[in-house]
Amino acid sequence: MSFFDLREFLKLLDSEGELHRIETMVDPEWEVGAICRENFDRRGPALQFNHLGNHQTPLVVGVLGKSKLYGLALGVRPTFKEIYGKWQWALENPIKPIFLETGPCKEVKSEEVNLFEDPFPVPRWHVLDGGPYLGTFHLVISIDPESGWINCGMYRNQILGKDCLGIHLANPNQDFGKIFEKWKSLKKSMPVAIAIGVTPYLSLVAVSKIPVGVNEYNIAGGLRGSPIELVHAETSDLLVPACAEIILEGEVPVDDYHSQEGPFGETPGYMGEMENRINYIKVKKMTHRRNPIFQGTYEGKPPNESALVMLYTRTISVYNHLLLSGIKGVKDVCVTYASRGFHTVVSIYKQYPNHAKDVMNHVLGCPGLICKHCVVVDEDVDPWDTFQVEWAIATRVQADRDIEIIKNGRSSKFDVSQVPSKRGLSSWLRIDATKPLEEYEREGASFPLSSEPPEELLMKVRTRWKDYGFKD
Ligand SMILES: Cc1cc2nc3c(=O)[nH]c(=O)nc-3n(C[C@H](O)[C@H](O)[C@H](O)COP(=O)(O)O)c2cc1C
Repeated sequence: MSFFDLREFLKLLDSEGELHRIETMVDPEWEVGAICRENFDRRGPALQFNHLGNHQTPLVVGVLGKSKLYGLALGVRPTFKEIYGKWQWALENPIKPIFLETGPCKEVKSEEVNLFEDPFPVPRWHVLDGGPYLGTFHLVISIDPESGWINCGMYRNQILGKDCLGIHLANPNQDFGKIFEKWKSLKKSMPVAIAIGVTPYLSLVAVSKIPVGVNEYNIAGGLRGSPIELVHAETSDLLVPACAEIILEGEVPVDDYHSQEGPFGETPGYMGEMENRINYIKVKKMTHRRNPIFQGTYEGKPPNESALVMLYTRTISVYNHLLLSGIKGVKDVCVTYASRGFHTVVSIYKQYPNHAKDVMNHVLGCPGLICKHCVVVDEDVDPWDTFQVEWAIATRVQADRDIEIIKNGRSSKFDVSQVPSKRGLSSWLRIDATKPLEEYEREGASFPLSSEPPEELLMKVRTRWKDYGFKD
C-alpha cells in the first residue's frame, strides 16, 4: 500500500484505529501542547484537532509518532531490521519524480500574505515558546545554484512578522546551510519553498541524512515504489510536491537578519536560548488545497514523533557508518529513543580482545552524531531492550576495567548537562558490557555458561504455547 498524500495516510490510520479526532474547542496557546504531551506519554494515536481556537482548518499531529505508524507508512513490520531494509532498498532503487502542469496544492492561491491572519491553526507548542511556530513537521525545499540539486530538510520556522518566518539550523553543516553559503557567495537571495501536509515518504526523507547531491524526491519515490508528483513553484525554479496541503514560497536574504528567534522547547526536553541574529524567509506567495489540513508536531522531551523519526534516522546512519568502517561482527545497533541521540548501544559477535573498543571509537566519532555515551554488548543482548542492556551492564561490567571516560569530546549545543560556556564539548563514556572472556582466560577459567534454556528449546515451547492453555 502506498500513499499519494497525507489524506490517504490519514485514511489508513483511521481504519487502524490510529487517528483520534478532537471535536472539542482547544486553546492554541496552552492546551494543544498539553494534550500532545499526554497523548505521546500514553503512546496514543495520531491526533486531529478540528477546532483549534476559531480556526476551521484541522491540525494533525503525530502521524509518525510511534513505531507502528512508521512501519505502516513504509509497509513493513515495525522492527529495525525491516525498516532498515526498506530504506536501503529505496537508496539503491531511487525513482525519479514526474512533473505535472498543476496539482492540488495550487487549488487556492492567496494574493496577499499575512501569517498573523492566515487561515492555518498555528499553535504555541510549549507555554514558554517565544511565539507560534508554523513549521514543525514539514519540508523546507531549497536548490543548489551551481548543480541544480534540490534539497528537502525539516528546519523549524517561527512566525516573526506578517510575511516573515525564522529558519533555525541546529548547525551550519545542515544541507540548507551548505546551499545557503553558495547563494551568499553569489550575493543573491536564496529561493525557498515550504510544503506542509505531505505524504509520509517526504517527511521521512526530510529528516534523514541523505548524501549531498542525491535528490531526496527520488529516495521518497523509492520508499513509495512510484514517482513523487511535482509541480513548479509560482515564484522560483523550485519544484514542490503536488500533493502538499499548503505551499509557502519566499526567499532568504543573504545580507539581512532578524533580531530574535525563540526560545523554543528543544528536542532534549528543555527550553533553548533566544537567538539574536537569525536568517529569515520573506514569504511572497501562499497556495493551498481547498479545505487544507495543517500538519505539525509537538517537540521536546521524548517520547514524541520528532524523537521517534530521529531514532530510526540516527540508528541507520550509525549502522551504515560501522558497516562502511570495515568493523566486523556488528549484529545490531540502537541510538536510543529516550536519549535523543546521546546514547548508542551496539551488539557484536565478539571476535578479539579490543573489539568493543574499536566499535566504540567508531560510534563516538560518527559524523553528524552527537552521541556521548556508548555501550557495547554481546550478541545475546538486544540493544533495543533497555532491560536487557541494564542486565548486561550489571552482570558483565567491572567499572575500573570496562568503563572509560574521555574528556573534551564533541557534543551538541542542546546538551544542557554542560554549562553554557562549555557547550559543544562533553565527556564521552565508553562501557564495554561484553563478557570479560580475556580476564577469565588469563586465570585459566572460562566465563560461566548461561543458565537460560537454549533457543531451540524456547522455540519448541513457543510453538506449543497454546497447548499449555495460554491464549497467545
Ligand atoms: C520534528 C523535527 C524538527 C527538526 N527541526 C530542526 C531544526 O529546526 N533545525 C535543524 O537544523 N534540524 C532540525 N531537525 C533535524 C533535521 O531535519 C535533520 O537533521 C535533517 O537531516 C536535515 O536535512 P538535511 O540533512 O537535508 O540538512 C528536525 C527534525 C525533526 C524530526
